[in-house]
Amino acid sequence: MYILRGASEVVTAKPTLKPLSGEAMGIVDRRANTDVLIEGDKIVKVSKNIEAPGAEIIDVTGKVIVPGFVDPHTHLVWAGSREHELEWKLEGKTYQDILANGGGILRTVKETRSVDEEELQSQTLKRFKKAMSHGTTTIEIKSGYGLEEETELKQLRVANWLKSFNLADIVVTFMGAHAFPENLNKYEYVEEVIRMLPLVKDLAEYCDVFCEEGAFTIDESREILEAAKSLGFKLKIHADEFGDTGGGRLGADLGVVTADHLAGSSLETIKMLSRSGAIGVLLPGTPFALLSDHYSPARKMIANNLPIALATDCNPNCYTESMQLVQQLAVFRMGMTPAEALVSSTINAAFAIGKTDRGVISEGWRADLLVCDVPDYRHLTYHFGINHVEKVIIGGKVFNG
Ligand code: NIG
Ligand code: FE
Repeated sequence: MYILRGASEVVTAKPTLKPLSGEAMGIVDRRANTDVLIEGDKIVKVSKNIEAPGAEIIDVTGKVIVPGFVDPHTHLVWAGSREHELEWKLEGKTYQDILANGGGILRTVKETRSVDEEELQSQTLKRFKKAMSHGTTTIEIKSGYGLEEETELKQLRVANWLKSFNLADIVVTFMGAHAFPENLNKYEYVEEVIRMLPLVKDLAEYCDVFCEEGAFTIDESREILEAAKSLGFKLKIHADEFGDTGGGRLGADLGVVTADHLAGSSLETIKMLSRSGAIGVLLPGTPFALLSDHYSPARKMIANNLPIALATDCNPNCYTESMQLVQQLAVFRMGMTPAEALVSSTINAAFAIGKTDRGVISEGWRADLLVCDVPDYRHLTYHFGINHVEKVIIGGKVFNG
């Protein structure tokens, strides 16, 4: 049992049983000069001058406490890197040009297939620790750099292996439908993904598909996601990243938990997603890394009551583990307020991966907390490009690097 004593403010969304949308997304509770009492993995009390005999005292005078960040969309398990593609992008090549020429995802597939499991573990563990040191306390991790049974299973095992550290909590997603492997035609690979579904069932809770021009069509995505749904997977979809190609609408139709990217979604698609109960997971690091100005229309989503979550999309194209950077991009490039960015990175991001016990600082909630060296929570976005997180508390335990 311990007390975080003397925070200059504790800032959190209000406790809620459903994701926040519309105006409610922009409201946070700010309590000045407040303590937090933690016992086991739970928050027991949040108030001024807490007295609890026997509790250890951790002095956090002058610091700001916020809920731990939840990163609900990453491709954390890969081998190698693609720094040369940044130069190609600077020369004017598009993401789809690079992919069509065997680069992009297919390049990472080659590298991920070629390393053994131990090497893949060590490359992934480094990123996992980096994410935590920047404030991520729960993280979603997808497969999708195998595009064959053996390597998809290897990636999923590595993602599950991270759970054994008892650090950030992990949610695993099977994304065999991330690209087409070079040795099979489209029809054969869609069948192969469907064949893999029962084989990965014990290793993944969600199934995701990259529904886009140059990737999986609406019909192919529907076939895979329906097969996954009937096996009990929860669904996600990468949709409308470059334009409204119907992926967002398919997601609404299938009842996905989240539709991700949505940079090109039309107003009608946004309204359909909102009616379906989906959450829009926005990934502003992706257009940033693609040297593009094409960010998701966050204000339109908020005006139409689509709940938003933010995520890094951490992958070899968009290489960041920092949810702080993502919140900064959300504010600077998508017009979200600092409060909306915080809500979208905590409580709404938790709902985006089916977690209902975290993302809020209040009695009875899971003790995932960040102690930040800022004078006011708005500095988390205003003061950009550095790491403000000083202490990371995950399930009541202090993470020490
Ligand atoms: O979410 N869009 C598809 N997949 C990833 C990119 C993966 C990669 O380029 O390696 C994304 O942006
Ligand atoms: Fe992605």
